Amino acid sequence: MIKTVDNVAEAAGALLLEKAEESIRERGRFVVVLSGGSTPLKMYAWLIEGHADAPFWEHTHVFWGDERFVPHEHPDSNYGAAKRALLDALPIPSEQVYPWLYGAGDPEGAAHTYADTLQQTLADAPFDLTFLGLGDDAHTASLFPGTGAVFDEGLTTVVRPPGKGTRLSLTARRLSRSRTIAFLVQGEGKRDALSATLSPTETPDFDRTPARAISAQEELVWLTDVTL
Ligand code: 6PG
Repeated sequence: MIKTVDNVAEAAGALLLEKAEESIRERGRFVVVLSGGSTPLKMYAWLIEGHADAPFWEHTHVFWGDERFVPHEHPDSNYGAAKRALLDALPIPSEQVYPWLYGAGDPEGAAHTYADTLQQTLADAPFDLTFLGLGDDAHTASLFPGTGAVFDEGLTTVVRPPGKGTRLSLTARRLSRSRTIAFLVQGEGKRDALSATLSPTETPDFDRTPARAISAQEELVWLTDVTL
């Protein structure tokens, strides 16, 4: 479903509140997957401004859909960005926050370690809410067009897109193990990527538009201020 909204950050924040309350009511916990990029930062500010003391945070578990293979203090770290912009202001127990580990040796070791972390904490349980972005080249998480990463099996993968450093990502299959998926797409700069990803086609090219390979168990929504 495509929801064209004036304020993507506010719509995304409201969705998180809704799914958190529903998940905790039904299962006693809320498992959310954050993405990187700049769009989520506005949602984080909205959440902190009005909901930093919400009771559900203490029952919230946080994962990342992808990460750059850099130390957490590096400016490119998705975990580092979320910690500064959101987590440091919330009462989420640190043992319920699961960053990808840079110190796990090489990128493949970091990917294997995260797969183990997923297995040990969730087994094959679905995430309750997964946020994803869309690059202007139509990548999502770190599944970049032209790399074939969208076809990778298993839970995690290492992607080396030209000029983008080394990336760690959940696979399309594991991302699809989500009750709800929300793609956050803001700005006219994403129009072409959004159109390429959502335009009806009999023969989807998953390597060119990786987001097409991602489905949700209950609801997949595109929150965007772009009117196609
Ligand atoms: C990353 C993200 C990436 C991001 C898109 C959109 O690590 O860079 O996970 O997939 O979501 O590039 O980024 P913006 O929100 O900045 O447009």
